[in-house]
Amino acid sequence: MGITSGRTYGTSRPGNIFNKEWPDRMAEDALSAKNNRIVTYLRLSVTDRCNLRCRYCMPQEGVSFVPHERILTYEEMLRIVKVAVHHGIRKVRITGGEPLVRKGLVPFLKALAQAQGLDEITLTTNGVLLEEFASDLKAAGIKRINISLDSLKPERFQLITGRDYFHKVMAGIEAAQKVGFSPIKINVVVMRGVNEDEILDFARLAVESPLCVRFIEFMPVGRENGWRPEAFVSIEEMKRIIYPFRPLAALETGRLDGPALRYRPGEGAGEIGFIGALSNHFCDRCNRLRLTAEGCLRGCLFSDQEIDLKGPLRNGADDGRLLDLIRLAVSTKPDNHLVLHRGPRKCARIMSSIGG
Ligand code: 5AD
Ligand code: SF4
Repeated sequence: MGITSGRTYGTSRPGNIFNKEWPDRMAEDALSAKNNRIVTYLRLSVTDRCNLRCRYCMPQEGVSFVPHERILTYEEMLRIVKVAVHHGIRKVRITGGEPLVRKGLVPFLKALAQAQGLDEITLTTNGVLLEEFASDLKAAGIKRINISLDSLKPERFQLITGRDYFHKVMAGIEAAQKVGFSPIKINVVVMRGVNEDEILDFARLAVESPLCVRFIEFMPVGRENGWRPEAFVSIEEMKRIIYPFRPLAALETGRLDGPALRYRPGEGAGEIGFIGALSNHFCDRCNRLRLTAEGCLRGCLFSDQEIDLKGPLRNGADDGRLLDLIRLAVSTKPDNHLVLHRGPRKCARIMSSIGG
């Protein structure tokens, strides 16, 4: 598999991969060489910029963003996605930074929704601009959205994110409900000494409203994001806190569900999920690739191994060459992040430039 397989798509099919024999090869191509993980999910970061400054994600001051000309254009992203679909990608999640701060996002999403073979386009947002965009996003074909929200207390929200936008986010969640997004997932990064005392409040939210609240283990990503062993709260501990409040009935995880463990809280309208990025090893089921806003493919959040697509793209690479590079990214995807074995390591990039 990969470019070592001896197949040279670039020369035999110049510039066009959309011929009839490709679909038969997709299943084979989608297999990651090492342990048969099927890579069907691409996280696409459309910008590294953000209107918040979450402590665990980027520094409060002096963040240097990538200049515009080094960011992929929407046309370039579209081309990569169309090729990636021919490698078995079925789901694209739009991420950032904060995707809604990039101009022209909605027309891009409409064009993306036309890409043949994509089952689903989803979006992760911090919700700040969601009130304004909810209805356009729905109309553009976004199926589901995830909203990051780490506190239900306005002052604490400001402390975590560096901005006084709590009420904007709540208005954004309401707007998303009003235009009919369902399910709406709320992502909560749990940090001891910061917001772990709100676990029950968030659990209550998932009981009283049809929201799907997902608790995420705090990850050591980026050079200095405040991660330390004492700040880490495992999903086991989170579950122990929730159990006396409500029993949690396990739900099935579907093909497109990703790494969350899903539960229905007793008599709840919504759902509770746990993403144990560190303690619950889901590397063996990891179905994702990431494309950074600068056009690099990453196989793993915790590995700084990247494959540049922008350079070849701008130097006239044809679709076959791009496909070879995508295949290389899949075949060299790390087996395992080894964070638990080797101790937490920090990837060099800050989270906002990778897209979570
Ligand atoms: N640990 C856990 N989750 C993080 N996110 C960003 N940085 C971290 C981190 N260090 C989450 C955001 C958002 C998603 C894109 O990634 O909260 O939900
Ligand atoms: Fe922005 Fe998301 Fe990073 Fe917060 S976590 S600063 S919302 S990119």
